[in-house]
Amino acid sequence: MFSVSTISLLLVLSGAANAAALGPTLQRCPADFELVRRGQTISGPESQYIKERREKVLPGAFKTYLQNVQRTGVQLPKYVEEILESRTQLPTVGITVSGGGARAAIFGAGVLNALDERNSSSAKKGTGGLLQSATHLAGLSGGSWLVTSLAQANFPTMQHLVFGDGHEFGGWLPEFNLWAPSTDPAEQAIFAHEILQELAVKAKHFPVSVGDAWGRALARHFTNGTTNATFFANTSHGSGILFSDLINLPTLASHQQPFPVIVMDIISKHINGTVFPGGNVLPLNSPMFEINLFEMGCYDDVLAAHTPTKHLGTTNKSLCVTGFDEAMFLSGTSSNLWNELNITAEILAENTANFSVLVNETYPQSPALRLDTSNYPNPFHGVAPDTFSDSHETILSLCDGGEDGQVSPLQPMLVPDRKIDVIVAIDATNDANGFAAGASLIATQQRMQIFARGLAAFPAVPTTLVGFANLTAQPTFFGCTPSSSSSSHNYDLEHAHPAAGPMMHVPVDVHGGGDAGDAGANVTIATQGAEVHGALEDPEWPACLACAVVDRARGRQRVARTGVCETCFARYCWEA
Ligand SMILES: *[C@@H]1O[C@H](CO)[C@@H](O)[C@H](O)[C@H]1NC(C)=O
Ligand SMILES: *[C@@H]1O[C@H](CO)[C@@H](O)[C@H](O)[C@H]1NC(C)=O
Ligand SMILES: *[C@@H]1O[C@H](CO)[C@@H](O)[C@H](O)[C@H]1NC(C)=O
Ligand SMILES: *[C@@H]1O[C@H](CO)[C@@H](O)[C@H](O)[C@H]1NC(C)=O
Ligand SMILES: *[C@@H]1O[C@H](CO)[C@@H](O)[C@H](O)[C@H]1NC(C)=O
Ligand SMILES: *[C@@H]1O[C@H](CO)[C@@H](O)[C@H](O)[C@H]1NC(C)=O
Ligand SMILES: *[C@@H]1O[C@H](CO)[C@@H](O)[C@H](O)[C@H]1NC(C)=O
Ligand SMILES: *[C@@H]1O[C@H](CO)[C@@H](O)[C@H](O)[C@H]1NC(C)=O
Ligand SMILES: *[C@@H]1O[C@H](CO)[C@@H](O)[C@H](O)[C@H]1NC(C)=O
Ligand SMILES: *[C@@H]1O[C@H](CO)[C@@H](O)[C@H](O)[C@H]1NC(C)=O
Ligand SMILES: *[C@@H]1O[C@H](CO)[C@@H](O)[C@H](O)[C@H]1NC(C)=O
Repeated sequence: MFSVSTISLLLVLSGAANAAALGPTLQRCPADFELVRRGQTISGPESQYIKERREKVLPGAFKTYLQNVQRTGVQLPKYVEEILESRTQLPTVGITVSGGGARAAIFGAGVLNALDERNSSSAKKGTGGLLQSATHLAGLSGGSWLVTSLAQANFPTMQHLVFGDGHEFGGWLPEFNLWAPSTDPAEQAIFAHEILQELAVKAKHFPVSVGDAWGRALARHFTNGTTNATFFANTSHGSGILFSDLINLPTLASHQQPFPVIVMDIISKHINGTVFPGGNVLPLNSPMFEINLFEMGCYDDVLAAHTPTKHLGTTNKSLCVTGFDEAMFLSGTSSNLWNELNITAEILAENTANFSVLVNETYPQSPALRLDTSNYPNPFHGVAPDTFSDSHETILSLCDGGEDGQVSPLQPMLVPDRKIDVIVAIDATNDANGFAAGASLIATQQRMQIFARGLAAFPAVPTTLVGFANLTAQPTFFGCTPSSSSSSHNYDLEHAHPAAGPMMHVPVDVHGGGDAGDAGANVTIATQGAEVHGALEDPEWPACLACAVVDRARGRQRVARTGVCETCFARYCWEA
């Protein structure tokens, strides 16, 4: 496994930024270093980020959004306008982008484009501006590629993100396969050799596995430093881009981006609960982890602990690691399904490069180390020993956040301290023939029965796929509370966590597509709403979306739902 035998030689006292380009380094910990923060509240820096965003960015963002909705000509109830124009009553919007590989990243980019005020057609449609108004943007697996790529590229438009902007960021390069970019064996060998070399510094002090090679392969597509022309060149391919450093980018330093979060699961040999049906691998009672700009940790009450993202890899307060949080290593963790492929012989055979073997041949690992997961020295060693399954493990083996069946990263939005009023859940799960049939939401509903403590209640959704049957081709609102002011009891109980919601579910449909050409094109599902009286597009949809966005704030003000919002809720709400 990993050992650090010659500490004195490894101490790096300065120049972390340069060294980071090569891989993680060890330094003396800062004097005020806190390895573990316990609890289910958010970190100080996150709170500060959201506060600044609410004060300086959101008033203008919501104003622009409201103007776009108003321009569609649909008469909005007065309360909608008042809430969106207020400085103090503004709603808190969270957006999630599900897993589903490249298709999820592309569909997600298409929906974000529909919510982006910078796109003139989205602005004209009346949906543009909601992206700029959101506080949090969570991604899982393929959705995390989008979230990470967008954050590190300094929040460009979706067109520039997917196709490149002619500057440092070269676009997603779909012309190259992720693992096997060349059909020429010699060129493929160069690719594999470079990827393995890029792990050299990390491998000196830390375990390496297929997860590291995967992160390096993904980095060529989703982070700065690679263009079509330099794909096979021996350059750093974004290896110095650290998640915790992104806060220094202009749009994050000025709080203009929704706060990015990525979600992953733990593979624990100590957990053996019920596995959600549908080919899932991990039991629903596995703790979930998230990584945000400031912390990596677990909000489930069984652990309720967090460690600084900047010092991932660190396990004590004397020697601190920096440079472990390479952006695509983290996003690669969220999308690491190799443990599943390991158990499926035919898919493994397709994985011609078989990087888990190549990594172990190049950097022999302890036989005890899993090579098919993404491995993190356990910062939570000894924490919550009675309830956290892996408290005694030295390594946390993490993997794709959807392996328990929860393919939408909803849990970060249920952290009460985030005070999310409405979740926009972009769901590109491929449950059946290209449709997001609802399985992921059912999985989260079931899991929340196990992990309810300290989290906001999940809005009720159908309990079976049959119940979702008519909800897969259009957006649906879940968790709509009754309209009358007297029934807004949820908001009275200071000490009880109100249900999250409403949640707007935007499912991918069979046309979801698979190449980057669709990214700009497939925004219809987010801009047109439902089929109304045989017409494919609902002219009131943008107004309906705004009604959902403000509905929690409306309830807080004890104003009744009126006008178009009443008919919208009748049309788009799912009632249990
Ligand atoms: C702290 O962690 C480093 C790196 O993992 C290790 O080498 C060192 O022995 C640890 N120190 C203590 C006091 O546990
Ligand atoms: C990535 O490139 C974009 C320009 O394409 C730039 O604005 C951004 O700062 C770069 N991000 C990093 C992490 O270097
Ligand atoms: C890439 O460049 C480094 C030096 O920057 C060199 O050590 C290494 O051998 C090169 N790798 C390949 C595959 O050419
Ligand atoms: C990208 O590179 C590939 C392989 O080198 C080439 O076939 C393709 O035409 C290039 N595409 C663009 C848009 O430059
Ligand atoms: C699963 O957990 C139960 C209860 O802790 C235990 O009795 C059983 O042996 C475990 N099964 C496996 C396969 O680990
Ligand atoms: C990949 O590695 C595994 C584990 O060593 C091995 O069983 C399998 O045959 C390898 N697959 C290929 C395609 O090389
Ligand atoms: C990795 O390589 C080491 C050393 O050759 C070997 O002992 C170990 O079994 C290998 N691990 C796996 C999972 O193949
Ligand atoms: C394949 O999976 C098994 C069991 O999950 C694990 O012990 C083994 O290390 C994995 N193999 C590789 C090559 O990662
Ligand atoms: C779906 O809609 C059809 C047609 O309106 C209706 O007959 C059917 O009962 C609905 N199915 C469910 C599960 O609600
Ligand atoms: C806006 O998005 C559409 C796709 O809906 C795309 O065709 C168009 O190029 C985008 N416009 C701008 C200015 O980015
Ligand atoms: C996007 O989705 C719509 C609605 O299902 C479909 O009609 C359209 O063909 C799709 N566009 C693309 C480019 O896939």
